Amino acid sequence: MKTVKIGSVGLGRLGHEHAKNLATQVPGCELAAICDVDADRVKEVAEELGVQYTYTDFEEMCRNPELDAIVIVSPSFLHCQQIEIAMNNGKHVFCEKPLGTDVEQCKAAEKVIEAHPDLIFQLGFMRRFDKSYAEAKRKIDNGDIGKVVLVRSYTQDPRSTIESTLKFAPHSGGQYLDMCVHDIDLIRWFTGSNVKNVWAIGGVFEFDLYKELNDADNAAATIQMENGAMGFMFTNRTHAAGSNVETEIIGTHGTLRIANVGAKNLLNIVDEHGSREEYYPDFMSRWHEAFVAEMVAFTGHVRDNTKPADLTVYDGTAVSEAAYRCKESFETGKMLPIR
Ligand code: NAI
Repeated sequence: MKTVKIGSVGLGRLGHEHAKNLATQVPGCELAAICDVDADRVKEVAEELGVQYTYTDFEEMCRNPELDAIVIVSPSFLHCQQIEIAMNNGKHVFCEKPLGTDVEQCKAAEKVIEAHPDLIFQLGFMRRFDKSYAEAKRKIDNGDIGKVVLVRSYTQDPRSTIESTLKFAPHSGGQYLDMCVHDIDLIRWFTGSNVKNVWAIGGVFEFDLYKELNDADNAAATIQMENGAMGFMFTNRTHAAGSNVETEIIGTHGTLRIANVGAKNLLNIVDEHGSREEYYPDFMSRWHEAFVAEMVAFTGHVRDNTKPADLTVYDGTAVSEAAYRCKESFETGKMLPIR
């Protein structure tokens, strides 16, 4: 089996998780290079994971002829330009969500990917690789719940990680582009349809920073799909018990629910607070297996020269576009069509 040699850019919250997974948990792959503008961080992670090549300049890393593929986990506004640099240097690309922070960037990335049909591109919608979400999709495709009528999806980060969340907020693209993209991706995936109209509402209930960013700390949106199905999403960063992502899919002949409660393990705790189950403390632990699975899939595609069937750059554009329209709808108070 050929070893796939990977260079990874961005060694922050998620970049470190991906780097660790690539170095230790993904068979047939070698984390051969890492890059971050923070030289101390690069040195620290290289020592921790035993990485051969280190860079503070992304383009320089992409010129390393030994690398097969680049994993992009840098701030969202850099994604599309880094896709272009990587592909122009002949590298396969895995890129974190969102594809871009505006539609023009996404369209430009589409052109780059179309210009390199021999290269593989995969986007970081890892929920699709979670066992429960994948099983829900199988049941829907099998017709088990009839026609999908409504998808309700909540994404709540825990209050315990609020400090890093606030630090990340200014370059995140805002709540809709940063958080709701996952929910929009799921709604498109489960309904098998594109977004037609969005109406987004929200407010600043606690953190004034979001006012300065023209954003909300609690945000919601109702969306209507081209096939008539409905979607509802809610996001915030202050869930009391841990990371909470729950999704409900209502069909004409049944309902599927994927929730967090009790999912961390089967432990039931009975104490002075009553009877309870523990939540995953943060998104990293909730999605750890999915983060590994998406990298196993990506390196497999690179090794076998196959492309992800239903997770394309066009999904990335469609999701970012809907998320961006949600942001505009929130700002104007109007229900907006997707252009
Ligand atoms: P972060 O802010 O913790 O880390 C970003 C890192 O990139 C920092 O170490 C920074 O020094 C580095 N960096 C900045 N500019 C750079 C440049 N020009 N070249 C090289 N390195 C550079 O951000 P975090 O949370 O790790 O997020 C990174 C990306 O991952 C974002 O696009 C975010 O949307 C995505 N993400 C996805 C998640 C998911 O659920 N799939 C969860 C968290 C983040």
